[in-house]
Amino acid sequence: MKLSPAMIEAMNKQINLELSSAYVYLGMAAWCDNAHFRGSARWFRAQSKEEVEHAMKLYRYLAEYDAPVTMAAIPAPKAEYGSLLETFEGALAHERMVSASIEKLYELAMSEKAHALAVQLQWFLTEQVEEEMVARKAVGSLKVVGDDMVAKMEVDRYFGSRGE
Ligand code: FEO
Repeated sequence: MKLSPAMIEAMNKQINLELSSAYVYLGMAAWCDNAHFRGSARWFRAQSKEEVEHAMKLYRYLAEYDAPVTMAAIPAPKAEYGSLLETFEGALAHERMVSASIEKLYELAMSEKAHALAVQLQWFLTEQVEEEMVARKAVGSLKVVGDDMVAKMEVDRYFGSRGE
């Protein structure tokens, strides 16, 4: 089974997007650490690690087809946020963008009749449902507590229960 040059290029772009996501989340973690939201910083560091795992999953898929993996530049992530809520809203917007990219990748695999790869990419389709849901819940929690700093620190502590 061989992948087309267009499919290989799209897969490599997705690898870059996943690694860029890891950097975006590390930027959010750094902002949270500087703002003393230690739990959220831990949450974002865990998310960053997950993104590297996503990239490596795609990397392994390409290797299985004997297709070349190519590296590209990773843009610097945003460093400044106006609030903790803004970081999680950023995460949700980012995940929606990644979901759209995965859907296009899946559609390309289907249109190219790369059936086995399409099956492999289904893991990413369902993963994105979870990724969006988790970010959406975090945004919802922060909206509920609003400017109540005590409640916000409690939510931050809860976010920190996510394992790294
Ligand atoms: Fe790898 Fe959060 O998408």
